[in-house]
Amino acid sequence: MATKQEAVEAKQGLSYDVTNGVAVITVDQPGAPVNTLSPETGTAFTTLLQQAERDPEVKAVVFISGKKDNFVAGANIDFLQTIKTPADVEAISRGAHAQFDQLEAFSKPVVAAIHGACLGGGLEWVLACHYRIVTDSPKSVVGLPETQLGLIPGAGGTQRLPALIGAQAALDLILTGKNVKPSKAKKLGIVDEVVPVPMLKDIALKRAEELAAGTLKVERAHQGFKAVAQSGKKKGLAGFFQGLISKDLWAEAALEDNPLGRKVLFDQAKKALLKKTRGKYPAQEKALQVIRVGLESGRKAGLEAEAKAFGELVFTDVSRRLVEIFFATTALKKENGTANASVKAREVKKVGVLGGGLMGGGIAYVAGVLQGVPVRVKDRDDAGAGRALKQVQTVLDERVKRRSLTPRESNAKLSNITAGTDYSGFKSVDLIIEAVFEDLKLKHQVIAEVEAVTGENTIFASNTSSLPIGELAKGSKRPSQVIGMHYFSPVHKMPLLEIITHPGTAEWVTATCVDVGKKQGKTVIVVNDGPGFYTSRILAPYMNEAAYLLAEGADIVQLDKALVDFGFPVGPITLLDEVGIDVAQKVGPIMEAAFGKRMSAPKALEGVVSDGRLGRKTNKGFYLYEDGKKKEVDPQVYLLLPHGKDRKSLDAAEMAERVALQMVNEAIRCLGEGILRSPRDGDVGAIFGLGFPPFLGGPFRYADALGPSNLLRKLEHYQDKYGERFTPAPLLVEKVRAGKGFYEA
Ligand code: NAI
Repeated sequence: MATKQEAVEAKQGLSYDVTNGVAVITVDQPGAPVNTLSPETGTAFTTLLQQAERDPEVKAVVFISGKKDNFVAGANIDFLQTIKTPADVEAISRGAHAQFDQLEAFSKPVVAAIHGACLGGGLEWVLACHYRIVTDSPKSVVGLPETQLGLIPGAGGTQRLPALIGAQAALDLILTGKNVKPSKAKKLGIVDEVVPVPMLKDIALKRAEELAAGTLKVERAHQGFKAVAQSGKKKGLAGFFQGLISKDLWAEAALEDNPLGRKVLFDQAKKALLKKTRGKYPAQEKALQVIRVGLESGRKAGLEAEAKAFGELVFTDVSRRLVEIFFATTALKKENGTANASVKAREVKKVGVLGGGLMGGGIAYVAGVLQGVPVRVKDRDDAGAGRALKQVQTVLDERVKRRSLTPRESNAKLSNITAGTDYSGFKSVDLIIEAVFEDLKLKHQVIAEVEAVTGENTIFASNTSSLPIGELAKGSKRPSQVIGMHYFSPVHKMPLLEIITHPGTAEWVTATCVDVGKKQGKTVIVVNDGPGFYTSRILAPYMNEAAYLLAEGADIVQLDKALVDFGFPVGPITLLDEVGIDVAQKVGPIMEAAFGKRMSAPKALEGVVSDGRLGRKTNKGFYLYEDGKKKEVDPQVYLLLPHGKDRKSLDAAEMAERVALQMVNEAIRCLGEGILRSPRDGDVGAIFGLGFPPFLGGPFRYADALGPSNLLRKLEHYQDKYGERFTPAPLLVEKVRAGKGFYEA
């Protein structure tokens, strides 16, 4: 019969086995796709260590995972959510500290053999081991992503990582929450060795023996403020937080263990941080503070500060919102985009892209390089075909420069993509993604052309940003295979893909496109058809409101700043310059035709467009641009706007609220009209597609936090003042009547 202790170990999925004097502790939690860290797992592990301590035959320990492609994915977040008070969370953090201190001080060497994700609590666990080996698999990543959830590492990571790799590199990882690949982890000093997958266990056993015999010695000096180059741009929240710590800043303060240097460093880091987060993300500030305590007052004080900060952060609204987003994107990864979970995606072995412009080139990259299938691009002329290939090459070159690819790998990936001006190579494509000009007639023409040359089962997806998919399908012989795949610019960086189905789209078609999107690294939402779908539709009134403010005399810089202070990554006028003022001008009438006067754009911008100002692409919009860099507002632009150079100082909070509430109200209309299938999809779409502030959790979480009746009152107030464009969405009125929030059935 199993002892009580054995039963606990079995439940935690821990097993113990001795080979040639090395105890191998394997973690493989039953019934779970990934291993996670909880106090029980930590306790069961410590018990096994004690067993290894007592066993005179055991000279060393290897810690390994039994999962196919996962080491330890992090702390168990579901479990964290069940804890009731900050003091309880602090106690858990202190418990982990004690366990990992014991591990670090263990009398026999402990080698961590890592394959798959080793994140958060998983990385903190192995940081307390004495030697770390990771496989060279693309599945292997290490990182401390806690700040992306509004938390900080709570099991010693804020102390052990800076001690191991230096404060700068540790802060870069902790403040952004990004993952690093094995080669980078080795370069930073997080792991000691990178090895091929099949050799992981053998090499770990060998190193364990060598460490025990004293033939392998590891010296770990505290590396102080080591200067390390920033790694490449990251997508999603890591991208949002990236660049908090500038290289120059560290160069200035690269004075090893010099208290004055340290002070300069932390003061400046805090300033840079606040500039970026505007004080909305407390976890980053706490992380900075806690790391500083450790460096100035030692490990013990640092760990104590970590436990306290961790306890406080778990209960902040910001953390709740970020954890909800994490759960939402995790759930989306498992869905097939249809109401029927048994519908299977079909295999897409080759992709055709129509139009080699800004979007077509980006789509060719994500299909050919990230999804990794052969891609054939067709443009109407050689210049277009060449542009697409050049665009792919540019992104690959950036990756080679950052060393995330070798030149050879880059060439191999590029050879996956070919381009031309006819339909050769299209016969065998399974999926066509169209990105020609935004013109219904032209899109109908290319549908007819490709249907004449492709097979019966080929899917036709359009990247249109505003034309109804049902209208496009009218030009197809196979309307059930017509769908929208709406990417965002720049395609290789933006994390969202909005898929649009019309009532006749076949379920297998939806499931196939969702699967393709995921393989291209996107977070995918599926919405129903309608003018502007979801994201373009909620952006329109947001931009219109900003234009109304300009017409009222708002100052461009103050208006942009108001929305950045609210939490958007850029202000609406900067965004207008990015998107192209002419593009916005084209979408305007489409939205007005569909939704009537409440969506009409103010006439204020007409003068700006007729002056030839299209935005960044012409180096002249509301702002001036030089060598691709945004400069100051062009004072001449005010002469084209009502009130001329005589700008008014409008209330910043009110400006931000007016613009943001337009987006929120329109999102609620989309839910009420069935464009959106759930508030969750609406929140994910607004955050990842449009930069709605993540700490607010998306338009629906924000509406719930404000309280629907409070939101209704605000909209009615603006409706009285500015007219029908602020008419509250009918679903909001219903929710207020029913006394319910948007996340309540
Ligand atoms: P673009 O003007 O950069 O590229 C369009 C390309 O289509 C050009 O290279 C042109 O030569 C080619 N083309 C025109 N007629 C063609 C034909 N008959 N056969 C093959 N190629 C042809 O335009 P962009 O910005 O790439 O937009 C393309 C589509 O993507 C539009 O429907 C647009 O609404 C949509 N979209 C654009 C976004 C953006 O941020 N620019 C975002 C999301 C969607």
